[in-house]
Order: sequence, then structure tokens, then C-alpha cells
Amino acid sequence: MSNLHGVVDLDVAGATISRHLYGHFAEHLGRCIYEGFWVGEDSDIQNSAGIRDDVVQALKDISIPNLRWPGGCFADEYHWMNGVGPREERPSMVNTHWGDVVEDNSFGTHEFMRLCELLGAEPYVSGNVGSGTVAEMADWVEYLTRSGDAPMSRLRREHGRTEPWKVPFWGIGNESWGCGGNMTAEQYAQLASQFSTYCRNHDGNELYRIAAGPHRDDYAWTETLMKSISTLGGPVEERHHQRWQALSFHYYTHATDDWKHKGSATEFSAAEYHATMVNAWRIDEIVRGHARVMDVYDPEATVGLVCDEWGTWWDVEPGTNPGFLFQQNTLRDALVAGLHFDVFHANARRLVMANIAQTVNVLQAMVLTDGARMVLTPTYHVFAMNAGHQDATHHAVQVTSSDARFEGEQGAYPTLTTSVSSKDGTALVSLTNLDVDAPATVRLDLRGRDWQVSAARVLSAPTVQAHNTVEAPGTVAPAAFDGARRDGTSLVVDLPAHSFATVELTLG
Ligand code: AHR
Repeated sequence: MSNLHGVVDLDVAGATISRHLYGHFAEHLGRCIYEGFWVGEDSDIQNSAGIRDDVVQALKDISIPNLRWPGGCFADEYHWMNGVGPREERPSMVNTHWGDVVEDNSFGTHEFMRLCELLGAEPYVSGNVGSGTVAEMADWVEYLTRSGDAPMSRLRREHGRTEPWKVPFWGIGNESWGCGGNMTAEQYAQLASQFSTYCRNHDGNELYRIAAGPHRDDYAWTETLMKSISTLGGPVEERHHQRWQALSFHYYTHATDDWKHKGSATEFSAAEYHATMVNAWRIDEIVRGHARVMDVYDPEATVGLVCDEWGTWWDVEPGTNPGFLFQQNTLRDALVAGLHFDVFHANARRLVMANIAQTVNVLQAMVLTDGARMVLTPTYHVFAMNAGHQDATHHAVQVTSSDARFEGEQGAYPTLTTSVSSKDGTALVSLTNLDVDAPATVRLDLRGRDWQVSAARVLSAPTVQAHNTVEAPGTVAPAAFDGARRDGTSLVVDLPAHSFATVELTLG
């Protein structure tokens, strides 16, 4: 049994937690786009213009703020022109990264923009630097966002869309240190500058250009990129309008250091559980590390940090295509998500967006489909329970004492993490107890505003291996929670072992 005591000043505003920290990522990979979203107009699965309704509704229910597409590694071999125009005339290609399957381009730009409209999500388009050209990327921006009589806006109209779309987020390549071209930071910094220059703001559409940043804790890459924009001269605001506005990094959580054996999603030992949490907790050091480097070159935090791929990555489910990255999702995955969000909230001044990988049927998915059936994963429920943090004001938790810590041969991690935010006369407290065996108590002295507990929910199960299937979709699901109470000015929460909980407060 462990305890954490802390103080929270509800009248002291921290950074705003951007709703885009709850962003998503959908790649042309395995059954994410095809079957996960796109079933085609003729499918027996209920759909709107070929996009399945059940998945859209599930994602709307968690207020999905943005969707990154078409990759991932796929983005750097995707040529957008092949995915517009009449579907039967679109050329095919081989998806060399993911399963070596033939991609028929039936899901392209118009289908993606329609999907975003159905979801009410803002599009985040990832452009091709690795095998594309500057002109190709510039044309794509024009096709999507320009009105009037420009060549690409005419082509878009010929393809059935009169008005331009709004595209707020634009990625300048993906993992350019690896699958996106195997470049050095210096090579990429030069290309990022060149490609970004020609991604124009047309007709009032202002692009937030996101440069492909480092792998995990490659702080040198971040430094090279930051230096490349800090030497341009002139006021910092103007410089950012000319080039890119943010840089991204990716961080995945595994149970082992062996890429060939990442561990099973559902059958794992206590030792693997601890190794998972040690690795998950590294996100804290990595976010802070990149932010520290950025602070040197940009103390006002005008350049955003984006974690546009994060989540767990296990061995694929037995019998499935190794290139499709299909994995189950247990309570362990949900706890990894709870921990990540606490770290993201605490770093919201610099961290402006995060995208879990990936939305449907791939890696740490929200939703798994099986033909016409669909199941919500434990991770989905964390997104749902935490939705109140979107665009809320963060309040730092000053920990005054805590004995909630695991230390073992795998390394160390805190077994309790928490975050607090407020918005519109309410506050939301999230609590994650990573202790696999023992319950825990959190006591937070909530100062500066009067408050009352209005609701509480908990996500747990008898074991951390518990997961949902189409046969048993409710094995891990949120339940009403009576473990939260007021004691004087303190909120006291008794958490079961391996659980995630949220407590809603009404503020006076
Ligand atoms: O999400 C799967 C892959 O992981 C992405 O395509 C790539 O960017 C990363 O390595």
C-alpha cells in the first residue's frame, strides 16, 4: 500500500492543455485505413460515403481533435496525385513498408478530408520528403487549400470539390533519420527549410508546419533543428511564419530491448509489466529533455513540441501478418496511456500535440474491428475518461511526500501519477495506480477555490492482462467509483491496485 500527498493551487493557472494532446494517427498500414475506416460504399457494414459509421461514432464520443495521415513511414512513399480522381482510374502501388501489399489508392485525399469532416477532427497531413519533391508537396497544399483559378484548385473542382478545405497541420516528412530517408540532422534541417518554404498559406489557410524531429532521446537532432531556425535573423515571430512552427518526436513503449521480441500484448509476466512501466516512464525524461534544448533557442516557447507517434508496441497477434502490426490491448496499455497523459499535461507549455499510434487495428488502438463488429479497447476508455482535460487549464501537483515507487532489476518508476485541470467551473483529477499488486491512497490538498466531488469513475480489472474482445467487449470498462471523498480541504482517493480513476469536481 503506497501513499502520495500533494498540494494543488486551483487559483494558480498553469499552461492550457491543448486538446491536440489527445490526437490520433491513421496510416495506410494493415487494417487501419482499409477495414478500420474505409469499407467502400457497397459494403454491408453501415457506412457514410464508404467510411464505417460505428468507428466514426466511437471516435466522436471521445472528442477526437485531429487525425494524422497518411503515415508514418508510408507518408514518405505516398504520391498524393495517385489518390485523387475517379477511383477506378487510380494507379496502384506496393506498400513496401507494411506487409508488401498492393495499395489501390481507393482511400485518398478526398476520402481523408471527408473522414475528418465526419469525425469533426482537424486534419494533420504528413507530406512526402523522403521520395517526393518540393513541387509535389507545394501542389498538394494548393490542391487542398486554394480557391480561385489556380491549376490545383481547378483540378480539385474537376474531382468534385468546389470549395477548398482548411488544413491546419502539415508534417514535413516522417522519421527522416530512418524510414523517411536515412538522413543526418543537418541534411534534414536543410530540406525542412526548403520544403516548408513552398508550403504556402493560401486564402487564409494558415499552416502549422511540423518538422520531422528526433528519434526518442536524440537531443542532438533537436538542437540541430532549433539552431537552423534560430540563425535566420529578424524577430522570432516572423521567422516562424517563414519556416516550420513545431518539431515532432516519436516514442514507443516496449517490454524488452529486443526489437525482434517485443513481448506478447496479453501474455506477459510481472517482470515484463515492470519493464513496460520503466520504459513508459522514460517519456517524462524525453519530453523534458527536448523541451530543455528548445528552451535554449526559444525561451518564449513559440516553437511547439509534438509527439506525433506514441504508445505500446508488442509482437503481433499470433497468426496475423507481421507487417500489419495488429495487437490486443489490455489494462496494462490503459495504464501506460494514463501515465503518458499525466506527463503530457505537466509539459503542456511546450508540448502542443500528441498522436497515439494508431487509431484502429494497429498498435495501441482505440478500436479493434472484426468484420462488422467493433470493440473498444481499455485505452479508449482512458481517452474517454480524460476528455475533460482537453483545452483545460493545468494545475501543477506539488508532491509533498510519496512512497509510491517501484525499484527492481528492470529499473525504477513512480507507481502513482496524477494530474489536475480546470475548465468552465469544474475540475478534473486523473489518477493512475501502476502498482500491480497493491492499492494506494492519494491525498491532495486542493487550495484556492471551494470544491465538491461531483462524480468519479474507475477503470480496473482483476488482472492487468484483462482485455476486451468482440465476444466479451465489457471486460475492461469504466465503472462508477466510491473511492473519492473530501476530508477538510483535501481530496482523498483510495485507488485499487492497477487502476486508472478520474474524479470530477464542481468549483465554487
Ligand atoms: O506506427 C508505425 C510506424 O512506426 C510508423 O510508420 C513510423 O513512423 C514508426 O516507425
